[in-house]
Amino acid sequence: MYIHTAQLRPLLDSRKEQTLEVVLTSGRFSVKASVPHGKSTGSHEAVALPFQEALRSFDRIHKELYQEDFSSQKDFDMFLSQWDGSEDKHVLGANTMLALSIAFARLMSRERKQEVYDYIHQEFLSRVPSAQKKSPYLVANLVNGGAHGSFSSAWRSQFHVSPLSFQEFHVIPLVDDVAVGLGLIQELYSKLGRKLSSYFDDANIAMGDEAGFSAPFDSPHMVLDIFSDLIEKYHYPCGIGIDAAASEFYKDGMYLYQGKEISKEELLSEYVHIIDTYPLLFLEDPFHEDDFASFSELFEKVKSEDLLIVGDDLTVTQLPRVAEASKQGAVNACIVKPNQVGTITEVLEVVSYMYAHGMRAVASHRSGETLDTFISDLAVGIGAWGIKAGAPVRPERSVKYERLVHISE
Ligand code: PGA
Ligand code: ZN
Repeated sequence: MYIHTAQLRPLLDSRKEQTLEVVLTSGRFSVKASVPHGKSTGSHEAVALPFQEALRSFDRIHKELYQEDFSSQKDFDMFLSQWDGSEDKHVLGANTMLALSIAFARLMSRERKQEVYDYIHQEFLSRVPSAQKKSPYLVANLVNGGAHGSFSSAWRSQFHVSPLSFQEFHVIPLVDDVAVGLGLIQELYSKLGRKLSSYFDDANIAMGDEAGFSAPFDSPHMVLDIFSDLIEKYHYPCGIGIDAAASEFYKDGMYLYQGKEISKEELLSEYVHIIDTYPLLFLEDPFHEDDFASFSELFEKVKSEDLLIVGDDLTVTQLPRVAEASKQGAVNACIVKPNQVGTITEVLEVVSYMYAHGMRAVASHRSGETLDTFISDLAVGIGAWGIKAGAPVRPERSVKYERLVHISE
């Protein structure tokens, strides 16, 4: 397939920060793709360039894009990677690269009269012949702490408690029907909102970066108690998840956890306590992004089929780090964020490695999102265990859920 025109345009994400969008046309079709941005980014992620810099690189590559007849996704992505030529994608920028890669996938699927998830699935089958398409479990982030929390200025002086150290608190409906799952998280979101109003002044309840609630909880246990009470009271078929994003509260070998400096051993005991007390299904980035050993220690201690210990900043959707995590027995699942690596081909490669090594995949949005729904198609196409798309409100989050429901229909 020849590309006829390629354009790079600026766009604001859900945090009103600048990101970018690509428009590609073939002779017959025109498609768009935009990319998100993280805030608690792992230091090993591929590099995203600021828009003006990205535009300078794009100006250099875009005419070359018109000269090749790209026969496959791999072909196109290889062209981008070779043109970039760097390990961390800083020449073209992983953000531009991913927007191009997704737009190319959309163009190819239009040409082939295929849905994007089918196109992805077909690409994936060449690596994992036994792969099945399926709707993922919804790992819905309803309470935002850490770098994603949002607090009024009166908040600290009034409550004298630290903001939540953990970044995300999820509910995870364990139902196969994604529309039913979405209904459950919407219901939980509304009930949680009403419950929080009974604890806090409405002026102190804010919306965090991923559209979950932020409020002066006195500890993570308070959030977990509220979640478990709701789940029990209404018999919701749901588990609970946490993304600690521990690199964000790590400094010089210690963790600043709920206003107190603690060691990694103390943090590990806290996790064991939480796992013993609550119906925890999912624990992401419990330790600093380079501490594979502590992940392994925790994993060994709490090993169970029903608990996912998940790498995000640890593994950054990149093969060498996922391989290291596997070698060290550090995790049994990894977050899959396409913009951590740059192209769809690399994403499919790393997911096939995960599956071959007994790990589950959880496709994920970023905290600064756009209206692009590619991760929903990706999750279905690779048969991911789960998807993280935030709270089911605000367009940048809800379009991902709606796309999943539409696919399942
Ligand atoms: P980020 O956070 O998009 O700000 O990096 C999401 C996450 O840590 O999972
Ligand atoms: Zn994370």
